[in-house]
Amino acid sequence: MSELGKLEKDCMLCRSCELCKTRKNVVFGEGKKDAEVLFVGEGPGSSEDEIGLPFVGRAGKLLDTMLELIDLDRSKIYITNMVKCRPPENRDPLPAEKDLCNIWLAEQIRIINPKIIVCLGRIAAMRFLGKDFKISRDHGKFYEQDGVLITALYHPAALLRDPRRRPETFSDLKALKAEILRVCNSTYKEVN
Ligand code: URA
Repeated sequence: MSELGKLEKDCMLCRSCELCKTRKNVVFGEGKKDAEVLFVGEGPGSSEDEIGLPFVGRAGKLLDTMLELIDLDRSKIYITNMVKCRPPENRDPLPAEKDLCNIWLAEQIRIINPKIIVCLGRIAAMRFLGKDFKISRDHGKFYEQDGVLITALYHPAALLRDPRRRPETFSDLKALKAEILRVCNSTYKEVN
């Protein structure tokens, strides 16, 4: 079994916080095991909790469309969340839940070893880029941390709520594609 597969197996048994009591499924993540581009959302919603995969509800459908705009799909990238279990009633994950769950995300990042991390929304962006990160001001900017490029897009759920932000996100996606072409070797290579 791959190192990521072993980590997933352990994560499925996690009972470190209260979210394990209300979850239906652990949503570990999905995609290419050695992806050069890693997308990180906030936490599973009800559809993800039902199915056990990230971004499969309405926001997930929009994420798929966003990926398609820059010729990406889930087989070329890896998608996960900061917390792996659904917070009840769609509340924000608590700081302690995020801290406890970070061991899984940190290990995913170590094993996958991406060249670019794309934070989906403010909550994930603040985790990587600090408390002063403002999504309305800082989306689409690229930051380097230990040789990894980090950027943030508006969360697809925010784009569903406020479609006026979509043109900015389209520009951010085009900038993301340019960075992928610049720093990644295999993401856009067809596997025949
Ligand atoms: N929102 C997220 O942040 N993650 C998901 O997996 C689904 C919706």
